[in-house]
Amino acid sequence: MSFNTIIVEKKQSVGIITFNRPKAMNALCPALFAELTEALDELESDDAIAAIIITGDDRAFAAGADIGEMSESTYQQMLANESLSGQWDRIALCRKPVIAAVAGYALGGGCELAMSCDFIIAADNAKFGQPEVTIGTMPGIGGTQRLTRLVGKAKAMDMCLTGRMMDVQEAERAGLVSRIEPLDKYFEVALDTAKQIASFSRPVVKLVKEAVDAALETTLSQGMKTERRLFHSTFAFEDQKEGMKAFIEKRKPAFKNR
Ligand code: HXC
Repeated sequence: MSFNTIIVEKKQSVGIITFNRPKAMNALCPALFAELTEALDELESDDAIAAIIITGDDRAFAAGADIGEMSESTYQQMLANESLSGQWDRIALCRKPVIAAVAGYALGGGCELAMSCDFIIAADNAKFGQPEVTIGTMPGIGGTQRLTRLVGKAKAMDMCLTGRMMDVQEAERAGLVSRIEPLDKYFEVALDTAKQIASFSRPVVKLVKEAVDAALETTLSQGMKTERRLFHSTFAFEDQKEGMKAFIEKRKPAFKNR
């Protein structure tokens, strides 16, 4: 796979997508969204890949949508481009686990893309924000919705209405980030984490992801029912038998992804 705005690599069973517009702080231009979609399509259909990492560079995960490309757009053009929202939602629609490895700025659309991953492992220099209000617009791909679900109304209102940034400690306290790691280690930790997830039974991992996602989409009682049924269904897999047998026999399980 060869791209202009991203780099795609495969390390064992982990697919890695790196935003590659360093001069523009990885601003998200339409070409990048299109390439990101294509890369995710490819990694998702590749049976050798069990988990995906999306990352940027040390200065920026992504500083938002490309303001230069967007500045003269009309309402009609934005509306006509709504079909592109499939591209904006592509990460959230991925059925394989996706980790955001974030260093530096994750602002506007950058913060929104990080939040549409399954969880965020952040470097100690990471900064998160929804600064759209400061440039006369507002979040458009989940900043008011995912952020509110993740950090609650008070902090979401504060960030979206003032455009202020959260440093990584505040982001971790608020529940936006799952782990903080030193800048020189965060990617390695994300890669080890992705490899660990990839070592588990893939169909089970898929159900776990589906169950956690259901918690944000439904009532508690419905979510509990969904979880129970998915839990029951793991007993149809050979991997459940193998996992528990291996525990009893004090050895490592050999999952076969079935
Ligand atoms: C285009 C951008 C950019 C962006 C940075 N750059 N952010 N270009 N779109 N979102 C470019 C700058 O123009 C500059 O290019 C280079 O990257 C370095 O940026 P500087 O501002 O010189 O760096 P610094 O002073 O360190 O400040 C970093 C920063 C700041 C805090 C990240 O650049 C910034 O505030 N950026 C905009 C953040 C933002 O408002 N994001 C929301 C966008 S709207 P040159 O050529 O001058 O070197 C959005 C809506 C999403 O995301 C909804 C739909 C998808």
